[in-house]
Formats: sequence, structure tokens, C-alpha cells
Amino acid sequence: MIEFILNNQKVQTSATAGSTLLDFVRYQQQLLGTKIGCREGDCGACTLLMGELDGDQVIYKSLTSCITPLGNAHGKHIVSIEGLNQVDRLTPYQTAMVEESGTQCGFCTVGFIVSFAGECLAPRKSSYDDLISAIDGNICRCTGYKSIERAAAKVQEQLDEKDLNNLLPWLAERHFIPAYFKAIPQQLKALQAAPLANGNTIVGGGTDLLVQKHDAIAESEVYLISDNKHLVGIRKVDQTCIIGAATNTTQLLESNILNEAFPNLRQHLKLVSSTPIRNIGTLAGNLVNASPIGDLTAFFLALNSELELSNDRGDTRSILLKDFYLGYKILDKKPEEFISRISFTLPDKNTYFNFEKVSKRRYLDIASVNTAISYRLVDNKIESIHASAGGVGPTPKYLSDTCAFLKGKSIDEPTLSKALYLLRNEISPISDARGSKEYKTLLLEKLFYAHFVSSLAH
Ligand SMILES: Cc1cc2nc3c(=O)[nH]c(=O)nc-3n(C[C@H](O)[C@H](O)[C@H](O)COP(=O)(O)OP(=O)(O)OC[C@H]3O[C@@H](n4cnc5c(N)ncnc54)[C@H](O)[C@@H]3O)c2cc1C
Ligand code: FES
Ligand code: FES
Repeated sequence: MIEFILNNQKVQTSATAGSTLLDFVRYQQQLLGTKIGCREGDCGACTLLMGELDGDQVIYKSLTSCITPLGNAHGKHIVSIEGLNQVDRLTPYQTAMVEESGTQCGFCTVGFIVSFAGECLAPRKSSYDDLISAIDGNICRCTGYKSIERAAAKVQEQLDEKDLNNLLPWLAERHFIPAYFKAIPQQLKALQAAPLANGNTIVGGGTDLLVQKHDAIAESEVYLISDNKHLVGIRKVDQTCIIGAATNTTQLLESNILNEAFPNLRQHLKLVSSTPIRNIGTLAGNLVNASPIGDLTAFFLALNSELELSNDRGDTRSILLKDFYLGYKILDKKPEEFISRISFTLPDKNTYFNFEKVSKRRYLDIASVNTAISYRLVDNKIESIHASAGGVGPTPKYLSDTCAFLKGKSIDEPTLSKALYLLRNEISPISDARGSKEYKTLLLEKLFYAHFVSSLAH
């Protein structure tokens, strides 16, 4: 039985764990404020908040409920627009949207409002940029974004004095949230939801699976891996970084360990999907989905990452990520195996790392081509190098020939020209909706060159 708090009420359901949170909220609970636009995680009309206990605090994140498995709500607080609305007034972010003419037909508006609420509830000072990031997964087809940006600025002014030590009472007093939120931490503690039974189909955030196989997953026995605390988190042991397989992209983006090691991490990971998708999509999900344009895959290939594969009997084995991809969506993984963790050596001061992605739209779009590199320079020579490229072949590509050639060389024009020649010969792009094969080849060459320009400029 799945149980959670929906707005201010405890709910229980025997609906399947792989069915969508959206369908439960909208059709079984008749909370019709949450809209359905694309059902693919793209438009944000179905945005809800999910609050999870962390010690005594509840941490709220936005998510796209159309591709969130219902079972991922188990033991949590789910908030829809009905749970934010107040009887006799609008919230400050609703008022700002009205005053700045941030809504026309209103179809997208609920999603924007819920996303703004998520940022107000974040246990940190909220800057204007944070509020804009919070709505980066919401698309509006008729208002235009300038008025919504003005509304965000107005909300930000009112959050200037946000009291982080007394967050829920502070927000409730100013009508950002209804008063019932203050009791939610205690109610979640009392809920003590028993773990759900694990099935055979592994689901992380569901942001690939529920787009691709929505109906099949609703009927499958799922293993919801994001709730396995042993598989979530980022730690450092000496110079090795170890990441739990079910760690999501927001957790990567907010990690102190990773931000210290990769100064441009935020800039790089903000190119991956959108806030509500990053809040739920996991690292292992990206690796196992095996899309040739997976961004995290390109990132972690260039770190020469190692995967730990485990099974329910407790057997484990390790394999380099670059050896994991055997063909288009064919993996060196037995059906009973799952990825338990990903590890790599953290870059030192002589190691340069860079990630580049070009897509038709800068944000919330999949790559035409992406590429990452890490190389260590000693006495002006490349001591070690790993590089990846996506969108230029049937699998995420580790550029082995190019790397083998560059190892031991110093970086100069003739060397890079020869490297680009080898690079052209080890990729096999095809023409598709994201560009012709000639365009992708040229793009990758330019991006590969850009790696050295941008890393040596620092
Ligand atoms: C709107 C939208 C935008 C997106 N934009 C981007 C983007 O810009 N860049 C990008 O790279 N991706 C993007 N994605 C794809 C997706 O969000 C990522 O690939 C994400 O990391 C998938 O993780 P997940 O946990 O949601 O995977 P799921 O859908 O839960 O699972 C994907 C696959 O991995 C398997 N799996 C999950 N965890 C494990 C494990 N530990 N061991 C073994 N198998 C496992 C599942 O069984 C399934 O086969 C986007 C998706 C959407 C819907
Ligand atoms: S309906 Fe479009 S993101 Fe869910
Ligand atoms: S107000 Fe109509 S889609 Fe945004």
C-alpha cells in the first residue's frame, strides 16, 4: 500500500507503484488544478512539489508528475496547487503573476506557481537567478516570459529577509504557504511508511522509462531505486570520489565535493534537462539508458569512471564505463545486475576538465553533439587524457584513438590538427533531426578545439 501526505491529508492507495503520480492526483483525487500538457516532462504543466524528511526538516523539490512513478511519493509530502491556495487571499507569487500580467490562457500558470513555491521553500537565500532557474522547466505558449520574469523579481524582493532558521513559520506568516505546512515535519515522522516491495524492473526517477514505456511500467513490478539510501550520496575517500547510483543530477550540482573539484560544474550541469527533471533523474539512469547523447554519460566517460555492478546476492564486479557500451543500447550488464556506484579520481591542480554541449535550444534540450575531456599536464606535456563525444555514433563514444595520440604530446596547432584528423576517423555520425553528419562532425571538431581554448585560458 502506497501512503503519503497529499496537501494536508494523508492518502493511501493500492494503485501500482509504476503508475504516474499525475494520474493519481488528477483522476483519483480529482485535484484538477494540475494540468497535462506533453506527458513527457517537457512543459511543466504538471509540476508538483515533493517534500522529504531530512532530519527535522522537510526539503521540497519540484518534479514533473507526468513521469514520476507514484511509488516515489511513498512516505513523502506531495503538494499541488490546491495545497498552496489560501481561502481569502493569493500567495505573494500569485499576486506578482497577476500584477505583472504573467498569465493569459492560464494553462501553464499552475506549473509556474508551483515551481515558484518550490524556490520559496528552499532552505537557502533565494536570488533572482534562483527564481528564474526554478521555472526553467516551465513553458508558456502565450504570455511571453518577460512578464513572468518581472513577477520573479517581485517575489525575490519579498524573499530578501527569508528566515532560514525559522523557515516554515516565516513563510506561513507571510502567506507564501498555508499554515498546515508547519505540522508536516511531525506528520511525516509519524507516517513511518513501511518500505515497498521490490520488483524486477529498476526505476530511478523514471524520466527516461516513463517517457518511453509509460503503460508497461504502470503494469510492471518495479524496484524504486531512488528510495534506497545506500545508493544515494557523494563521498570522497582520499582522491577517489564515490557516487551512489541513485544520486540525482540536482544532488550532483549541489555537491560541495564536486563543486570544489569542478569549478564550472553548475554551468555544465545546468545544460542538463531542467530543474524538475534534474531533481528526480539519476546518474545511473542516464548511464543505463545508454543514449548516445546522454550528458552525464559524456561527463563521466571523460573522468574514466568505474562502475560497480551488484546483484541481490551481494556479488559485485567493477567495469570501466568506457567498456560498458557494447553496441546501440547493448550493455555489458546481466539482467539481474544493477549499478550500485560510480567512482573516479578527482582532478588535481594539474588536471583540466571541460564539458561542451550544443543543442537546438540552449536549455531544456537534448544535445546535437556533446563532449567532455579531462587531461593532466606535466611539464607542458599531456601525461594522461580521457575524452568523450556524444551524438556521433550509436553509443556514447570514448575517443580512444584521439586520446592515445595526444598522450605524451604538448598542445600546439600541428598536434591538435593531427588529433582532429584521428577524431574524424573514429566517429560515425548519422544525419537526423539534430543535424547532418557533416554538421555534427564539424561541430565536434570545434568543440574539441574549444576544450583546449577554455581549459588553457584558466
Ligand atoms: C524533459 C526531459 C529532458 C531531458 N533532458 C536531458 C538532457 O538534457 N540530457 C540528458 O542527458 N538527459 C536528459 N533527459 C533524460 C533523463 O532525464 C536522464 O537520462 C536521467 O538521468 C535518467 O535517469 P532516471 O533515474 O530518470 O532514469 P529511469 O527512467 O528511472 O531509468 C532509465 C534506465 O536506467 C535503468 N536504471 C536506473 N537506475 C539503474 C541502476 N542503478 N542500475 C541499473 N539500471 C538502472 C532503468 O531500468 C532504465 O532502463 C531528459 C529527460 C526528459 C524527460
Ligand atoms: S505534462 Fe508536460 S511536463 Fe508533465
Ligand atoms: S498563459 Fe497560456 S500557455 Fe502560458
